[in-house]
Amino acid sequence: MTLIAMVSAKGSPGVSTAALAFTLTWPAPTLLAECDPAGGDLLSGYLARYELPTDRGVLPLASAALRGTAEQDFLSQLIDLDSPKRERLVLPGITDPAQAASLQPAWAHLGDFLANLPQTVLVDCGRLSAPHPPWPVLVRADLVLLVLRAHSIRTISPGVPALSRLRREMKDSPAHLGLMLIGGGIAAREIARHLVTPVLARLAWDPSTAAALCGSGRGRRTGPLMRTAATAYGSLHASLAARRQAAQPIERRDTDTLPAVKAAAR
Ligand SMILES: Nc1ncnc2c1ncn2[C@@H]1O[C@H](COP(=O)(O)OP(=O)(O)O)[C@@H](O)[C@H]1O
Ligand SMILES: [Mg+2]
Repeated sequence: MTLIAMVSAKGSPGVSTAALAFTLTWPAPTLLAECDPAGGDLLSGYLARYELPTDRGVLPLASAALRGTAEQDFLSQLIDLDSPKRERLVLPGITDPAQAASLQPAWAHLGDFLANLPQTVLVDCGRLSAPHPPWPVLVRADLVLLVLRAHSIRTISPGVPALSRLRREMKDSPAHLGLMLIGGGIAAREIARHLVTPVLARLAWDPSTAAALCGSGRGRRTGPLMRTAATAYGSLHASLAARRQAAQPIERRDTDTLPAVKAAAR
């Protein structure tokens, strides 16, 4: 239904933490796909206490996608965070960055498969500066969020080359490109102006909740990080809806201005 890809420019601004916070708080069925070529974090972090099997996830699903059996094999590769409801699902990532190269031929199939699922799919694509970014998945996304810490010019500046690379690699993609800021510091409108890209969401700086989501610290699911993650659902989907509406031919738009436009055309 909706594919939202999340990436960072360099460093660790908090992509995986944000993706998990979204998955845990969003009001609609959500699937988090760990497609970071440097490896997934959930099995060894947030889910470590459950001692789950490590043989399921994106790698077997990629083989299934190449064989044409992704649909049949899909459910068995997932972890249900809210069992048995299947409303907060996780597709675990690879466990060794050496496996990233073997995912390359399957990314396009996986991107198509994920984009056609009925739930909102959040894809953690990791760092753009890492080898083998999952470009076909980014190209297939409805929305690509570049995640940056808003702390200072030093944390914002890597966004400049990252955005030019994203624009270059995704030139034929209809994906909407936006920023997601982590923490306070520089004002969102300053960052948007500097990077010539809209800020679509901002998550709170909240080390204690972030530590709990990384599998350390005591679980706390009500901190500012979770509240701002829940709020981001509305702003991201509103931005996507506005984009979709703007992309429709004018006679199909469902807007208040339509009668006026028709009258003017007569
Ligand atoms: N919103 C946040 N507030 C405070 N600390 C955070 C936040 N998001 C992430 N962190 C911390 O930053 C580190 C990197 O987070 P992670 O999500 O793994 O980054 P990335 O996926 O971008 O590499 C972790 O120690 C995590 O606890
Ligand atoms: Mg990560």
